[in-house]
Amino acid sequence: MTKKMKRRDFMRTGAVAGLTLAATKDEVAGFPMILKQSTVKPLVISSANGNRFKNGGDVTAVSKAFTMMTGGADVLDSVIAGVNIVELDPLDDSVGYGGLPNADGVVQLDSSVMHGPKKRAGAVGALEGVRTPSLVAKAVLENTDHHLIVGKGAQDFARDMGFKIEDDLNTENSRRKWLEWKRRTDPEHYLDPKKRADAGHKAALQMLAAGLLREENMHGTINCDAINSKGEICGVTTTSGLAWKIPGRIGDSPILGAGLYVDGAVGAAGSTGRGEANLFNLCSFVIVEEMRRGAHPKDAGMEVLNRIKNNTIEKRLLNARGLPNFGITFYMLNAKGEYAGVTMYEGGSYAICNENGPQTLKCDALLTGRPSD
Ligand code: GLY
Repeated sequence: MTKKMKRRDFMRTGAVAGLTLAATKDEVAGFPMILKQSTVKPLVISSANGNRFKNGGDVTAVSKAFTMMTGGADVLDSVIAGVNIVELDPLDDSVGYGGLPNADGVVQLDSSVMHGPKKRAGAVGALEGVRTPSLVAKAVLENTDHHLIVGKGAQDFARDMGFKIEDDLNTENSRRKWLEWKRRTDPEHYLDPKKRADAGHKAALQMLAAGLLREENMHGTINCDAINSKGEICGVTTTSGLAWKIPGRIGDSPILGAGLYVDGAVGAAGSTGRGEANLFNLCSFVIVEEMRRGAHPKDAGMEVLNRIKNNTIEKRLLNARGLPNFGITFYMLNAKGEYAGVTMYEGGSYAICNENGPQTLKCDALLTGRPSD
């Protein structure tokens, strides 16, 4: 979209999209017989970065996805086009190009996509050299019998599919931050992965305390899910994963049921934050199952936050209050178009776009204070 979309344009788009042609068995010569008012209002939901970064353009991810979707584009194509803006924007150092690299200074990207109506999925993990892993995940969905391809295999697959492979996805910003982290880490620890991980964690905490990093960017990600006026639901999650991770580490983002889950008849859920906590509890799958049983998206999200809290017992993962010392956030919508953003600690936000235009909203939080308190 070249022109900035005004609020009244969103309202008009939403109103038109609310009218759905519903075909019946009496359909004659391809003409639907009934014109009914859809009960589903089109909606896009994403992590807060979905309404922050514009990659030099004039629209954010949620706006782009909403405009495409209500203009008739496929819902998955719409949410992917949205997150592509963030993947390509060097200012977001948690996703795609310019994402914070692994412990060796190499940017490795994870992404998954799910198409509700088609009941298809694709994902890539530890992919190097392609700025838009979400598009490679979609190529896995469209061109293979598989759901997840990782590492060199993922890059070879991307090359075969015609994606440009670049030597290095670091930006000056991501390389500078990695160098600072490396400077604070005893190089001898590279001999021992456990010691290196511990030293790396300590250095990262120091950098957070010094204001050199933001907590959300340590595990930064974008998840974006949407429902159109026909009730079709799709979702995408894409990330550069945990900053300074052990090379080859794959987080929750490319794992179906963890970083993303879509059931076209029920709803969609996705996450940002500490991937290990999500992987252990398969939260997006649980959220969708809770919604299937009738839970409101907010209650389904709170259920998994409680599970994470109760399953976090290792001392190194607890703060002085005995609570998780990390952040994690979930974004979900159901087939009725109800939605929520929930987070472990107060202060987080998420983005939506509906007929009123893009908005950044406050997440509901399970716990008060901060992870480090
Ligand atoms: N949630 C992103 C990650 O932990 O990799």
